Amino acid sequence: MPNTAISRRVVLGGGLAVAGAALLSVRGQAKAPAGLPARTVAAASGEKRVSLVAAERTLRLMGADRPASRVWTYGDAPFDLVRLAQGESLAIEFENQLPEHTSIHWHGLRIPNDQDGVPYITQAPVKPGERHAYSFTPPDTGTFWFHPHCDTAAQLGRGLAGVMIVEGDETRAYDADIAIVLKDWRLDVETGGYLPFTTTRGELRAGTFGTVRTANAEIAPRMELPAGGDVRLRLLNLDSTRVGSVGFEGMEAAIIAIDGNPIAPFPLREWRFGPAMRLDVVVRAPAAGAEGRLMDFFAADPVTLATFVGKGDARKARAFDPAPLSRSSVPEPKLKGADRLSFAFATASGGKAALATSADSGDPLAEAMLDSLCAASKTNWSINGQSWPGGDHSRVPPPLFTLREGRTYVAELTNETPHVHPIHLHGFTFKVIKSTRADLPVHFADTVLLTPNDRITIAFVADRVGAWMVHCHLIEHQETGMMGYIRVV
Ligand code: C2O
Ligand code: CU
Repeated sequence: MPNTAISRRVVLGGGLAVAGAALLSVRGQAKAPAGLPARTVAAASGEKRVSLVAAERTLRLMGADRPASRVWTYGDAPFDLVRLAQGESLAIEFENQLPEHTSIHWHGLRIPNDQDGVPYITQAPVKPGERHAYSFTPPDTGTFWFHPHCDTAAQLGRGLAGVMIVEGDETRAYDADIAIVLKDWRLDVETGGYLPFTTTRGELRAGTFGTVRTANAEIAPRMELPAGGDVRLRLLNLDSTRVGSVGFEGMEAAIIAIDGNPIAPFPLREWRFGPAMRLDVVVRAPAAGAEGRLMDFFAADPVTLATFVGKGDARKARAFDPAPLSRSSVPEPKLKGADRLSFAFATASGGKAALATSADSGDPLAEAMLDSLCAASKTNWSINGQSWPGGDHSRVPPPLFTLREGRTYVAELTNETPHVHPIHLHGFTFKVIKSTRADLPVHFADTVLLTPNDRITIAFVADRVGAWMVHCHLIEHQETGMMGYIRVV
């Protein structure tokens, strides 16, 4: 078999030439021409073997002339990128060289529960020095990511995350296809070391923000795009905290997929973009020598996240009119006859949090509660009055709901707090049907931003058994109580 370990393509940075060596990890494969991402020729079928080694590595996040930082990554490059074709199966050899246990959750992939990567819930934690094999066939095309699921504020805070792209949804070729990972880092800018990843104030409010904002692990990088071309940019918010509002200046842009799920193209002006969310856009690249910018418009002073420079001969003469992606393979929920669920996201109800009957001893969930990496030390938040127990609890909550395999569920998500919560459901891609506060198109997603006092209606088909986590992806909320699970039987 050809050494297809390959899968880690390396096209995170568009401007590889300017992005610097840190983003390059070309394995057994020709290097992409400067400024152009390598395109993947999708194998028709087969298995892709990938090795991921979580370890501490050094990276100059603040630039070549500034102090380096110690980051935790899965490979030589930050945000290792796995690309594969729809229908291909993945065999992942994972090795943990970190000083603490970890696991890999495949965010947004509709795969079997035993591959979902949640310590104690779907697998044992992978201890320092241990290996773990994951294998699955991602069923859907799109832009996904992967990350740990305990001590996430610290592990993700140090950069432990990767990108997965499942190809096969294009109906018209793009002139380039580039992943752009947005992540802030809690750095002491004098030393390159870390500030505390969490703060009491942040946990109780909107989270603790990073001090250094990056795109593909660089501060406001410049990327070269084929001048006048139609370029697919896959934006990923892999930050633990920041909810931005992304948009472009100096370039036309259209949204073509949300959390990897195709949607009929529509113009992107600004999109509220919370932790874990992804947005695929097509932009018309600037003319040769001209510039466009990816912006966060949320701050009082909009922030430039990346600058794009047109390079080469103009590619397109016709007007900007992005083609839709091919149809999604996510099952369409049939609302008629669906069962109803409701989830209320709120602050913790003091000592009254409804905790279940005590777990049997030997119950892996009970063990989880005693593991300080997986159990919160504080309880600030709840879902339906239950908080994911803190370290002082020896009891485990029951599932928030028990669902029947194959049935369709309509769920109302209600925000009873004055903060925004990016709510994520493991294992199922849901249809976002309506919001009482936000002007959202009907779309499929795995993470949805619940703004203050909002009520969002979603629907999904519970087509795989197991315990599936539901939580806020603002990590300090997740880790101080805003997490639970549903069980599908
Ligand atoms: Cu990215 Cu439990 O999630
Ligand atoms: Cu939250």
